[in-house]
Amino acid sequence: MTFDRRIRIAPSILSADFADFGREIRAIEDQGADWVHVDVMDGHFVPNLTFGPPAVKAFRRHVTTFMDVHLMIAPVDPFIQAYADAGADLISAHVEAGPHIHRTLQAIRATGKMSGVALNPGTPADAVRHVLDLCDMVVVMSVNPGFGGQKFIHSQVEKIAQLRALIGDRPIHIQVDGGVDPVTAPLVVAAGADVLVAGSAVFSGGSADAPEVYGRNMRAIREAVAAN
Ligand code: DX5
Ligand code: ZN
Repeated sequence: MTFDRRIRIAPSILSADFADFGREIRAIEDQGADWVHVDVMDGHFVPNLTFGPPAVKAFRRHVTTFMDVHLMIAPVDPFIQAYADAGADLISAHVEAGPHIHRTLQAIRATGKMSGVALNPGTPADAVRHVLDLCDMVVVMSVNPGFGGQKFIHSQVEKIAQLRALIGDRPIHIQVDGGVDPVTAPLVVAAGADVLVAGSAVFSGGSADAPEVYGRNMRAIREAVAAN
């Protein structure tokens, strides 16, 4: 994939109908999603439990765009290969999930997949300064990870701007994850983000039977960004 900073919307299927993932994934892609964001939680690093590698492999059969797998698990290293084999295009791991983020990013790159490093709201931008050359993306968590539908934490906008300066002209995406909607998206894009994860703001009010609502929700985010 060639690098560019055009704005990408990555709906989080954490907000999809869990009984209907295939149709939900096809619906968001048909309606203009750029990526599909998959939130993997272990009930230990975060207080919620979601998808193991077999589930992610099943999602892959429906994804035609780009599957972005956000690992909120600790330890993470023993599971990287399994999520790579499940068909992730990009795997993100948290800097807080273990003592050896450099080794973790090397392990992700060794699978041939793109790599992301995620930062919880309390973790400073500087925590990734010395591993940026192993990253294709930095993920700024704008909520505490674990659940969809939480309120955007505004202090993260400054962190995005700091990361944007740290990254300079390197081909590294800045993703923002949590509480992104038509009100907050312009703020994070102005600060330097280019990949917008949105769960509730994309899925609310729609369904695989009413997919045009997903399209409308994504357009509302894009138009808000373009208008600012
Ligand atoms: C939170 C997840 C997010 C979440 C976003 O731990 O990483 O991807 O699903 O959901 P919203 O957009 O509803 O905040
Ligand atoms: Zn996520």
